[in-house]
This record gives sequence, C-alpha cells and structure tokens, in this order.
Amino acid sequence: MTAAPGPGPTDVDRSDPVCRAWVDLAVAAVEADARRSADTHLLVYPLPPEWGVELYLKDESTHPTGSLKHRLARSLFLYGLCSGQITEGSTVVEASSGSTAVSEAYFARMLGLPFVAVMPAATSPEKIALIEFHGGRCHLVADAGSVYDEARRIAAESGGHYLDQFTNAERATDWRGNNNIAESIFSQLALERNPLPEWVVVGAGTGGTSATIGRYLRYRRLPTRLAVVDPEGSSFFPGWRDGDPATATGRSSRIEGIGRPRVEPSFVPTIVDRMICVPDAASLAAMRELERTTGRRAGGSTGTNLWGAFQLVAEMVAAGRTGSVVTLLCDGGERYAHTYYSDDWVAGQGLDLLPHTATLQRFAATGEWPAAAG
Ligand SMILES: Cc1ncc(COP(=O)(O)O)c(C=O)c1O
Repeated sequence: MTAAPGPGPTDVDRSDPVCRAWVDLAVAAVEADARRSADTHLLVYPLPPEWGVELYLKDESTHPTGSLKHRLARSLFLYGLCSGQITEGSTVVEASSGSTAVSEAYFARMLGLPFVAVMPAATSPEKIALIEFHGGRCHLVADAGSVYDEARRIAAESGGHYLDQFTNAERATDWRGNNNIAESIFSQLALERNPLPEWVVVGAGTGGTSATIGRYLRYRRLPTRLAVVDPEGSSFFPGWRDGDPATATGRSSRIEGIGRPRVEPSFVPTIVDRMICVPDAASLAAMRELERTTGRRAGGSTGTNLWGAFQLVAEMVAAGRTGSVVTLLCDGGERYAHTYYSDDWVAGQGLDLLPHTATLQRFAATGEWPAAAG
C-alpha cells in the first residue's frame, strides 16, 4: 500500500502557457543568434614548411562578443531556459572574471532580462565597460574567493537565476556535436595535409572548453590528444598532477580567463592527456610573439596556449614526426591595452619577458625548445 503524499491534492498541474510562450520566443531568439553567427576561422600560424608540422589557431575573438565565451554563454542560457530556471523577467546572475559576463550580458539584453556580474574589484576597466555596454550591472567584491556565494545570494534575493558557469559549463555544452568548438575545428581541418592533429592545446578557466574537446575526441574515437596549459599559481595543474580535486592554491591568476584559486567543478581531469604549467612572463612573451609574427593582438590566455603549443611542435620536430597541432585564440588584445601590452604594467608586475622572448626567437629560427623552458 503506497503512503499518501501528505495532505492536499494528489494531482497538481503547473503548466503555464504564458510562461512557455515566453520561453519559446527566448529559445528561438538564442537559436537565431547562432544561425546569424558564421563559424569562427581556423588560422594557420606561420611555421617553416620544412619542419613538416602545421600549427592552427581557432580564432574565437571573432564571435559577436569577442571571445570563446560567446559559445558558453549561449549554452548556459539555453540550459537555464530549457530547464525552466530562466523565465520572463528573471534576474540573471554570474560570477565571472569578465569574458563570460560580457557574453552573458549580450544574451540577457537580447531576452530583455536584468543581468548582474559579480567579479573581483581588480577586473580590468575595459571588461567592466564592455559588460555595461551590453547592458549588464557589475557587482564588485574585494575578495575574489567570495564571487560564488555573492552571486548565489543576489540570485536568491532577487528570485532570479545564477548561471554558475564554473559548475554548469561542462554539462550545458553539447560535447557530441551541434557545432561545438571541437566539431568545428575538425571539420575545418578536413582538407588540410594533416587533418587529425597530434595535439589540441587549451587553457582552463571553468574547464568547460577542455571538457568539451576531450569528450568529443573520445566520442569520435580520434587519435588526437588533449593538452591543457595552466598559468603559474593556478590549482588545475597541481590538482591534476596529484589526482586531488580539492587542491586550492587560493591564488588568483594574472592571466585573465584561465587559472583558478581552486579546481573548478567543470574541470574534467580524466579526459586530459597532458598538462603544462606556464610562467606568466612566458604567456605574455608568446602573446607578443603572435603580434610580431601575425600582426594580430590577442589576450594573455592565447599566449599561454601558444607557449604550450610551440613546445609540443618542437618535440615533434625534434622526433622527426610530421603532423599538426591546434590551439585557441581566445579573445582579442584590445581588452588588454593597459595591462599585457603596457611595458609599465608588465614591469610593475615584476615580470621579465626577455628570457622567454629569447626562447621563442630561438624556436622560430631552429624549431628547438630548450629543456629549461619546460
Ligand atoms: C580569455 C579566456 N580564455 C580562456 C578561457 C578558458 O575557457 P574555459 O572556461 O572553457 O576553461 C577563458 C574562460 O573564461 C577566457 O576568458
């Protein structure tokens, strides 16, 4: 005999056609944005052809909101809408170091929803201005570690929804396909000399991008391996190396968008084949090398990616292996004019780029990578 579910009716119908009609319109608007956005380009990084190794950059700075986070923001809004957590008039809240909030503000405005971004007070003025330009409100906190609880509090008090990129990035993104970043990369490589790269190299902020790519590689049974680069002081590298997801260095990263004071829930260590820890000065030296070599300005996390990618290319050259390597150009450099591209700011951080620039110039000339450089 089943126990009665307590006092009151045993059949409750909460369907709300008005609410569903709004969700239908909202989902259609987000999907229309995807259809309006052409796919991001896959750029060839110039390496000497005699090396027999090609290096590609997936240029995510060309998204409407200027970074790879446009994809994540779209997925998080669809996830919230289709889970019944975002409805008409919901205040949408996020804890973000910047890029994600820029993209989420764009979608919130598209849906006519108030958006609040909770971030460390040290976030660059350019990023704060960009979020406000897209109609968002920035809520600054002194202690970077308190962004999660503060975002949750604001969402609860306003009856709104906390998008929570650090928890939901790995589950909101469709890793099987649906033109995710991995599927896009492999389809754009199809006519290349080496269409199945030996490595894909990415950084981790939420861990969502690496999770999507790592799962896709296994789902498609591809031989390609995933390398994750991590800036100095971040928790991902020691956490993965020691198999301890509770690792927390408590240190904020100097490379915006990647590196975290704790191992975030969306980081999936089991799909990472290799990790490389990259000094901040090396990240910025590689970021500037990209501008010298291609004329393109990108952000610091792209420099971190390139440092790791160059090292892996050098290993292939040294071993006489031909093939290809892919990495990401995560966002544009215009956001970092007063920081990474300012010699005064770099000196003020006590960062000496010279030894790393020497490593990069030796690599560009010879394909060699000094053991000391990692
Ligand atoms: C500029 C930049 N690069 C890389 C990343 C890392 O991406 P993910 O969060 O998917 O690990 C981020 C994340 O915020 C970012 O903003």
